[in-house]
Amino acid sequence: MNLLVVGGGGREHAIIKKLKENPQVETIYALPGNGGIAADAVCVPEIGAKDIEKIVEFAKAHAIDFAVVAPDDPLALGCVDRLHEAGIPCFGPDAKAARIEASKVFSKNLMKKYGIPTAKYEVFCDAGKALQYLKDSEFPIVIKADGLALGKGVLIPTNYDEAAAAIKSIMEDKAFGDSGNEVVIEEFLTGPEVSVLAFTDGTAIAPMVSSMDHKRAGDGDTGLNTGGMGTIAPNPYYTADVAKRCMDEIFLPTLAAMRQEGCPFKGCLYFGLMITPNGPKVIEYNCRFGDPETQVVLPLLETDLLEIMQAVENETLADVEVRWSADSAACVILASGGYPGSYAKGKAMTFPAAYPDNVTCYHAGDKLDGGTLVTSGGRVLGVTATAPTLAQALADAYAAADTIDFDGKYMRHDIGRRALAVLEEK
Ligand code: AMP
Ligand code: GLY
Repeated sequence: MNLLVVGGGGREHAIIKKLKENPQVETIYALPGNGGIAADAVCVPEIGAKDIEKIVEFAKAHAIDFAVVAPDDPLALGCVDRLHEAGIPCFGPDAKAARIEASKVFSKNLMKKYGIPTAKYEVFCDAGKALQYLKDSEFPIVIKADGLALGKGVLIPTNYDEAAAAIKSIMEDKAFGDSGNEVVIEEFLTGPEVSVLAFTDGTAIAPMVSSMDHKRAGDGDTGLNTGGMGTIAPNPYYTADVAKRCMDEIFLPTLAAMRQEGCPFKGCLYFGLMITPNGPKVIEYNCRFGDPETQVVLPLLETDLLEIMQAVENETLADVEVRWSADSAACVILASGGYPGSYAKGKAMTFPAAYPDNVTCYHAGDKLDGGTLVTSGGRVLGVTATAPTLAQALADAYAAADTIDFDGKYMRHDIGRRALAVLEEK
């Protein structure tokens, strides 16, 4: 079989490595892929993840049997709709279902209408009215741009002046472009965060192992928000009791709501949850695999990934037994110094001759420059280890991360520390 994967980051590398475990898979094309992915797939750097027409043309010309659309932008732009029109089976939601991530106004209204627990909120398309509302609000408060904003469209001002500056930057200066035409202003919730990715064919759901992201750039959760500096799985806050409540109060109602709205969700639905004193609530939905959550979740998957993805497409997920390893996994991101601000590119990288069997290095932001790998992005690599305990997985991931080098290499040194503390309390 010939497969096509749209995207070119660490998440896509993890998906590709997993798909390759299926003996029927012959060639995997990655559009655009990256320098490191080129060791596992045929990369096509000329075709970007948002070049929908070129992606469809490529799929038709290369006898693609199955496509996986991983990033949010092409999903929101209707890449799956267009591939389906061309008769190509694929994994991922259509554009209508992708609104669950692409529009915060859509997802908040969906949750309100169907009684799915989330932060209380108001929607504004007028800056003056938003400011008026903020005058009478309690702080901190949460302000979110409506559309896709690379995870940066969320601001948490602690007083009115900061809030007014946030409204000006989103709605008037358009810091996130048209994403900021509307804003959601919502209640500030507290509690540990849990990411749960789930396979769903619109009706059946198979939640994956839970995980914990580390979004801030600096140790001790300080500094700016990033796309994610490291992950661990499973997340110790996600107890059996919490999982049951999430299934009954959030996961199944969300799928039913999407069906009711005429846009059943098929693909990987990502639930960003907060375990508040009043129970689990939805912080956000994503219409796709998380990055770098995928880099700790998929290594623990024991069932064939392609088989699951095909069952999602064929709406037969209920017939597949999705099995998970009981091990833990940890992923440490190696970033370019300066990220998420400006950073240098083009730095040569050195790698060990081989990694231990339980370690995988996923490439996120690099490219081939005359045969050598050089850095090309903020998040460059994700080093994942799996082991029977989280402590061992973390030790092995950090040990392997130390054997890789490039100028300006930056990583957090406390990935998983909070999770370990929770496990020790148990
Ligand atoms: P989002 O892009 O919606 O996931 O938001 C990014 C981050 O902002 C989340 O991971 C939370 O840490 C934080 N956040 C978002 N909404 C809230 C909220 N209502 N209360 C507290 N923190 C929030
Ligand atoms: N790691 C968060 C996300 O993928 O949105």
